[in-house]
Amino acid sequence: MVLLLKSGMALLSILRYPDSRLHKIAKPVTAFDQRIKQLVADMAETMYEAPGVGLAATQVDVHEQILVIDVSDTQSDLRVFINPQIVWASEERQIYDEGCLSVPGIYDGVERPARIKARAKDTDGKPFEIEAEGLMAVCIQHEMDHLKGKVFVEYLSPLKRNRIKARMAKEERELRKDRERDRVGMR
Ligand code: NI
Repeated sequence: MVLLLKSGMALLSILRYPDSRLHKIAKPVTAFDQRIKQLVADMAETMYEAPGVGLAATQVDVHEQILVIDVSDTQSDLRVFINPQIVWASEERQIYDEGCLSVPGIYDGVERPARIKARAKDTDGKPFEIEAEGLMAVCIQHEMDHLKGKVFVEYLSPLKRNRIKARMAKEERELRKDRERDRVGMR
């Protein structure tokens, strides 16, 4: 489902855990063309609308190495990472309560390197490097995991993960029932 907005951007639907498409491996982007620029604009719009601080192309069922991130309070600092790589990570680690637009309503602590250095390309294919800490470092690592087919709940215990799966499945059934009811005009 794609919802068209008047600005020429579109809201994309976000896959929900445990959708198996979230486990696909993303391929590198090779052509930095208009299609990629449009996709990045749509991903940013979808992230802001959700609202979230990061979105990987995997989550909108596009299996190419693209991330959009904005950790500012004012949604005014969009960062785009294409074909990102982590080139350095600190030995120091931190635990951060993470959430994910593909696992709505679930937050849990994940331990990762506290500081990282990442290399990526922008929408014109121009390479850049960034050193990140705090939420930005968490976000880059979390979104890069999506490109490898990994969702943050996979860091949690099997018991917690199964509980989350059951909750997601229940919500999915309710959403489907709601849609069905809307379709037959019962409300
Ligand atoms: Ni996520």
